[in-house]
Amino acid sequence: MKEKTLVLIKPDAFEKNHTGEIIAIYEKKGLKLCAMKLMQMTKRVAQKHYAEHIGRPYYEELESFMTSAPLVAMVLEGDDAIARVREINGKTNPAEAAEGTVRRLFAESVGKNAVHASDSPESAAREIAIFFSEIEIFD
Ligand code: PPS
Repeated sequence: MKEKTLVLIKPDAFEKNHTGEIIAIYEKKGLKLCAMKLMQMTKRVAQKHYAEHIGRPYYEELESFMTSAPLVAMVLEGDDAIARVREINGKTNPAEAAEGTVRRLFAESVGKNAVHASDSPESAAREIAIFFSEIEIFD
């Protein structure tokens, strides 16, 4: 089933010029870019995007990092895209991420972990709507 998912190339990976390599990994796996922008998250957007994490011990660090510098937001489309992109990204903690995954290749810590991807159809729909309007998404 064709799905859309939100991916963020986080400030650490963008800053280290890994954007092109990361996008190439998704494209080579058959995922299609259907929206993309370079932007800096505001605190308000971070609080909306990471609403379920507010109050957790790592939240302040997460918000501060995600709002600290530009990131790349994109929508990827493909068969089973939500689960596939999370598999391609690897586990949240790069030390536990499998060989060849984006986080194993480019992440440095559980916080500075290179990429974010939606974890369910509900979060994909919610997150895509935070970053993109209807006219910015191409099928
Ligand atoms: S969950 O709820 O179990 O799925 O949480 P998890 O996937 O482990 O982490 C959720 C997001 O929080 C970020 N995170 C952190 N940021 C900074 N510092 C610390 N210690 C930390 N621990 C977790 C993690 O990178 C996840 O970000 P996203 O963007 O969702 O990948």
